[in-house]
Amino acid sequence: MSIYGDYLKSVIRTVRDWPEPGINFRDITPVLQNSAAFRKLIDSFVHRYQEMEIDAVAAIDARGFIIGAPVAYELNCSFVPIRKKGKLPFQTISETYRLEYGEATVELHADAFREGDRIVVMDDLIATGGSMLAATNLIERSGGRVIETAAIIDLPEIGGSDRIRREGHSVFAVCE
Ligand code: PRP
Ligand code: ADE
Repeated sequence: MSIYGDYLKSVIRTVRDWPEPGINFRDITPVLQNSAAFRKLIDSFVHRYQEMEIDAVAAIDARGFIIGAPVAYELNCSFVPIRKKGKLPFQTISETYRLEYGEATVELHADAFREGDRIVVMDDLIATGGSMLAATNLIERSGGRVIETAAIIDLPEIGGSDRIRREGHSVFAVCE
């Protein structure tokens, strides 16, 4: 949790029953609309990682990009997109994982990292942890070292962050 966690949680909007009945959608757009809140959000990650000698921020398509790119810029490190299937033009490696219904595939450019690169993986939210674990698998397969997985929001009752920790990764979330 960041020192701004309670404040940022108060700015995040919950949209009930979207995109389907029973889902409480955690909407980060009010944070993005509020320049002070957006700055506190990005600063929360920059403050955490600025002394960790990070080589690259890898972020997950699409909402992960919104936070991953400014954090990489501030850390003065590279930014690597992990994209949904069929979007990256060069040679890729891919991971397919289960969703609540059906499955999804994410891809990474094969030349994205050098052996031993120190990577933070970022996304907006951890629910089942499936997206984040697919991303960590891609990074490790390409020779990168996952220093931490990071999100704005963890939904601990769904169990994704525990699942990520059981796979041996550290998890940082700004709020729950
Ligand atoms: C959402 C969210 C995370 C993922 C979290 O992505 O942005 O990437 O679900 O769920 P999980 O922990 O169960 O994997 P989604 O693909 O819905 O949307 P986006 O393209 O708007 O980022
Ligand atoms: N992705 C998966 N579950 C979500 C939720 N409850 N709110 C926003 N994004 C999500």
